[in-house]
Amino acid sequence: MQFLYNVLIWASIKANLGLAPQKYVIIFSQGVLNMKKIKAIGIITTGGDAPGMNTAIRAVVRTAISHDLKAFGISHGWRGLIHGEIEPMDLKSVGGIINRGGTLLHSARCPEFKDKIQRKVAFSNLQDHGIDALVVIGGDGSIMATSILHKEFKIPTVNIPASIDNDIYGTDYTIGFDTAVNTAVDAIDKIRDTATSHERLFVIEVMGRESGSIALNVALVCGAEAVLVPEKKFDLNALTKSLLEGQARGKKSYIIVVAEGAAKAQDVAKALKQKTKFDVRVSILGHIQRGGSPSAASRELACKMGYRAVELLVAGKGGYMVGAKGEEIIELPLSRVAGKHKKIDPKVYELVQILSK
Ligand code: F6P
Repeated sequence: MQFLYNVLIWASIKANLGLAPQKYVIIFSQGVLNMKKIKAIGIITTGGDAPGMNTAIRAVVRTAISHDLKAFGISHGWRGLIHGEIEPMDLKSVGGIINRGGTLLHSARCPEFKDKIQRKVAFSNLQDHGIDALVVIGGDGSIMATSILHKEFKIPTVNIPASIDNDIYGTDYTIGFDTAVNTAVDAIDKIRDTATSHERLFVIEVMGRESGSIALNVALVCGAEAVLVPEKKFDLNALTKSLLEGQARGKKSYIIVVAEGAAKAQDVAKALKQKTKFDVRVSILGHIQRGGSPSAASRELACKMGYRAVELLVAGKGGYMVGAKGEEIIELPLSRVAGKHKKIDPKVYELVQILSK
């Protein structure tokens, strides 16, 4: 009873300071449900880096500090956590990074994290630093790993989806996707110029080992003549037929966008050379899609998701992923997202087929 009374007094003081009452209703209700207050948040970036990860780190650190929480950066992903690469972060340590690509915390692939003994080491490193909550910024692999850690050690966690692939279930967009699409579009528009001048066919490979999201979006907005994605079976005869039909209508140059997981650009080019008389060239865009200054959209998502991740932890909620649903930032329990894969939008695929004629 005394606790309830104290919380009410505290909430009314905060309300008088001009802070949103809604926020304190959430904190109040969670405070009643879960009295354990967190003191220090660990921040980790894992898997393939994505433009906007730094923006998200900054948002997490600064929101944590606004709640008088400590913030710790964990370097080199899960591997760094196992090896105790943990340093305190303050307002200044995230200054000047909002527009920088990559991740200042570095990232690494870490197969060792599949081993429970290594996860125990990781957890005890968190305890040694007094870290009692974790924000994990990364792709679908990081969600699986976090969900295991959360279940095993009951540590409150929030995942922020960041991956250029935009393949994370439960969110419309991931941090970095918009930037990667813009990078690829910029490159393909330039290739289109030379393709037109020389009346050539270009096969352009974009990233996406398991997802055709980048390829599809890029093909749509670059007006590609065809797109190959891992989610749809590649039919060489149908592709050749449609290119030749285009030629009969007077087309002279062609852009074919291939997601790396659908086929190798070199193989597609070789097959088309054999079947047609087109002058074929190949361009593989590669890792330039993972770098560069985050776009305004990637930064906005990172600021909002980073803030929301900390607010959830402060409200006593752990085991969640934040996501984007239209303009809104939402929260989803990890049990609803872990192990699931987002599919490409069939309507966008259809649209590309219609507009590519
Ligand atoms: O970040 C996702 C992704 O870009 C995939 O599309 C790609 O296949 C993979 O990462 C490559 O990552 P790496 O070169 O780091 O192994």
